[in-house]
Amino acid sequence: MAQKGSRIVFACQKCGHQSRKWLGKCPDCGEWNSFAEEQSRDQSRELTGAAFRISAVRDSRPTPFTEIEPQDDAREMTGIDEFDRVLGGGIVPGSLVLIGGEPGIGKSTLLSQVADRLSQLYGKVLYISGEESDRQIKLRGERLGINPTGLYLLAETNLEHIFSEIERLQPQAIILDSVQTIYSQKLESAPGSISQVREVAGQFLVLAKSLGLPVFLIGHVTKEGTIAGPKALEHIVDTVLYFEGERHHQHRILRAAKNRFGAANELGIFEMTSTGLVGVPNPSEIFLSERPLGASGSVVVAAMEGTRPMLIELQALVSSSRFGTGRRTTQGVELNRVVLLVAMLEKRLGLQLSGDDIFVNLVGGISIEEPAIDLGIVAAVTSSFRNIPLHPRTVVFGEVGLAGEVRATSQAAVRLREAARMGFQRVIMPQNNLNGLPGDDRLDVIGVRSVTDALESIF
Ligand code: TYD
Ligand code: MG
Repeated sequence: MAQKGSRIVFACQKCGHQSRKWLGKCPDCGEWNSFAEEQSRDQSRELTGAAFRISAVRDSRPTPFTEIEPQDDAREMTGIDEFDRVLGGGIVPGSLVLIGGEPGIGKSTLLSQVADRLSQLYGKVLYISGEESDRQIKLRGERLGINPTGLYLLAETNLEHIFSEIERLQPQAIILDSVQTIYSQKLESAPGSISQVREVAGQFLVLAKSLGLPVFLIGHVTKEGTIAGPKALEHIVDTVLYFEGERHHQHRILRAAKNRFGAANELGIFEMTSTGLVGVPNPSEIFLSERPLGASGSVVVAAMEGTRPMLIELQALVSSSRFGTGRRTTQGVELNRVVLLVAMLEKRLGLQLSGDDIFVNLVGGISIEEPAIDLGIVAAVTSSFRNIPLHPRTVVFGEVGLAGEVRATSQAAVRLREAARMGFQRVIMPQNNLNGLPGDDRLDVIGVRSVTDALESIF
């Protein structure tokens, strides 16, 4: 039966859009068949009638800007460098952090390791699991070689019960694994539905802010919006981290998609080993470790992810299509970017590519959106098309425009330094970046103004 003050609505399970009627297609996100019937409470009740009872939300009044204490010195480091980096230099007390990723990618593993570090450094940590039993978590902990005294486990899915346990335990940090398995008994919809997921996240937000605790929510990213995904929570939480990588590869990439307390483009790179996740402090080495030397279509690009330079191998394969028009397929780089650059190559350099299939792949399961890899894509496609390999100690970077011009990119000096450090000898880069750039006698730096110049220097 409907509660007082509640009404029936239909909510899109992908983006949360609500409607009084069932709709076949969500007018907001365009998803088909994503509407489900839910109980909705009034907005006003939602904001005031909280399940959270630990402490009343403090009085708020206007405060002079100059009297507000800065928060940054209060950051807590976990000592897991790659994790601290993605958070913007450690955990901010009172922050609500969402960690999303596909099942099996390693979310519980990472957070168990974080919980271990936090409990050693700051006292009681509560790990709430709605998915696994205490024993399963303990088993994972043993595999990870952790045995922290301050870590408490709670296998529970009822939000109200969880809050009373939190009140009793008074932990210093909380981990919730996962937000889709927890439900509030005040709502009638099923766990994992958009209103439950939002309610749970909203309650933990109030808790984090009023107690000044860091709270980590784990959220599954699944195909086809049957379960409300982390996307629907992005606006509620302070920080959103996505765990990416292919399950069959060891590398895992933790990427900040939103961060109220730091840069949103930082990356953390881990390797999944038999004893848990290990940070990779030197990603270029990993990304280049299996590079075939002297193969056509293989190019090393210098990309920036956040504050960190990375040398990555980019591969292209151009082969004649069995059908009239060639397909373009990419992995790790934007398809549209490749289509555009290929069209530019056809028009400006007269390469006949329209009848060829073109595959472009960034090696190592990483994806890069930065336009600085444009020149690398152009070089790789041309190398494969002509079947001429690049000099193996060459690094390429630069943005390419539609007229075939090579444009300056940010942080050229940092990219050059990384190339030199990794033992490369030749760098093909935008001429416009060369002014005032500190020279490096280990490198032969070639500035180019156009794609024609670049390809001449490369081949
Ligand atoms: P898990 O953290 O349970 O994934 P999630 O919580 O994101 O669903 O870890 C999933 C995989 O990681 C699992 O297939 C086993 C593997 N794994 C290791 O390779 N080494 C380890 O030390 C651990 C704990 C897990
Ligand atoms: Mg898990």
